[in-house]
Amino acid sequence: MRDICFVTGNQNKIIEVEKLIKNFKIISNKDLNFYDEIPETENTIKGNAFIKSSFIYNKFNINCFSDDSGLFINALGGEPGVRSARYASEISDTEKNINLVLKNLRGEEDRSAAFQTCICLIINGKTSYFEGSVKGIITSKRLGSRGFGYDPIFIPEGFERSFAQMSLEEKNKISHRSIATKKLVNFLNQK
Ligand code: IMP
Repeated sequence: MRDICFVTGNQNKIIEVEKLIKNFKIISNKDLNFYDEIPETENTIKGNAFIKSSFIYNKFNINCFSDDSGLFINALGGEPGVRSARYASEISDTEKNINLVLKNLRGEEDRSAAFQTCICLIINGKTSYFEGSVKGIITSKRLGSRGFGYDPIFIPEGFERSFAQMSLEEKNKISHRSIATKKLVNFLNQK
């Protein structure tokens, strides 16, 4: 079976994708003995996904893919967006990030937002992108304790519960990341 590298240090993401991709063996940064952080210097999630994939492709000459996601809030001009992980401080801090979003949206009527994911795949030098997005609204306080990141303050469209009030299976049926991942999996399973 051919190897493909998922450029991530997040073991949960690897397990999730491994279950779905049948004709490639998924390896990751640690199988390449690569533990450095790749600087994500672009101002779009697509740009950052490309930076990560192209870095690994060029350094190790291996087919690979990477993902980048963010929460885009309309009333904040698309913030936190590409800076979602480090919105409130240079060191990623979920509690501070959520507090800053709630503060910036105080008194705001338009609470509409979307989570977006972009996956960048490079196979034999050819680059492809797979995108997923889920619309929703930002709550005025935290709801639920599951999930990660901004899950407690995001209610997806058509639902009355936040991502943090859903089981992982329920979230995975509709999430931005799972939509993009399904597109990637369909593509790879035809290769
Ligand atoms: P990443 O590119 O998947 O690491 O996502 C960047 C940041 O976006 C994370 O650190 C979270 O703050 C936020 N984010 C991305 N996806 C989700 C999600 O599914 N739920 C909550 N927050 C998310």
